[in-house]
Amino acid sequence: MTTTNTTTTTQFPPPKVLTYPSSTPPILITQGAEGRLYKTTYLSPSIPCALKYRPPKPYRHPILDARLTKARLSAEAKVLERCWREGIPVPAVYAVDTSAGWMAIEWIDGPPVRAGINEWLGDPPEVEQDGGHQQDKKKENADEDEGEAPMVDLMRRIGLAVGRLHNLAGVVHGDLTTSNMMLRPPLDGGDAAQGKAGKALEGEVVLIDFGLATQSQSDEDRAVDLYVLERAFLSTHPRAERLFGEVLEAYRGSFKKAASVLVKLEDVRMRGRKKSMIG
Ligand SMILES: Nc1ncnc2c1ncn2[C@@H]1O[C@H](COP(=O)(O)OP(=O)(O)O)[C@@H](O)[C@H]1O
Ligand SMILES: [Mg+2]
Repeated sequence: MTTTNTTTTTQFPPPKVLTYPSSTPPILITQGAEGRLYKTTYLSPSIPCALKYRPPKPYRHPILDARLTKARLSAEAKVLERCWREGIPVPAVYAVDTSAGWMAIEWIDGPPVRAGINEWLGDPPEVEQDGGHQQDKKKENADEDEGEAPMVDLMRRIGLAVGRLHNLAGVVHGDLTTSNMMLRPPLDGGDAAQGKAGKALEGEVVLIDFGLATQSQSDEDRAVDLYVLERAFLSTHPRAERLFGEVLEAYRGSFKKAASVLVKLEDVRMRGRKKSMIG
């Protein structure tokens, strides 16, 4: 998935900032609909950073395009800064150049939560043995199943992170998925007591990709945020479906008004079901 510098520069021109002499050539990490993400360094070759770049869109009017890029990028940087100030785990913002369409943010040196969960789901020996279905049932009945504990714990950390985002920062993310969360590895190398499978789920949950985030304190907006996460989670990790409830339970416990958000979530789900029935 990663691309070398040579390919990067020949295929797409990088932003000017990445063409300055540097001892660490930028690496293209992802190429999304809205922009690209490079791994590079900030100020010193020993400080890795993620550079999020929104290239000009040739099909848009240049003035409108520049204005849109500026507004979106500065909104994203502002939200990140607000979260960071409130102590929500998000990448720190190092530098922003809205006119050139990029921002440099702290590099999170871990896998996306999606990858951690997939590794965990593929790894438990009991699932590998016979297609997994019966084993899943067995797990359902065994609440204290040690094998599941790391996943339950991760689900709770996710619920807590979202609760703190909503409550402390007053921010709704707008695109909560397991790809927009990373697992920052523990500094001490992790819990030696955890098995190999549990290791995939270790680390601090760091929220990323605030391109669609807004300030809001409303139950409705918060409930929609949770609904987006629920839908994304169930379609990305259908085999972990039964564990999603742990996210909501941790969210419930994370702030006083969370309970009313969860009541609202019922309405949002109902609307979602009606809409999918009508088509
Ligand atoms: N701060 C970061 N540190 C490390 N990797 C990152 C960072 N931010 C984003 N990424 C990686 O790049 C991908 C795309 O970034 P994201 O902010 O989600 O942009 P997009 O709007 O294209 O989805 C992420 O899914 C993640 O794998
Ligand atoms: Mg993303």
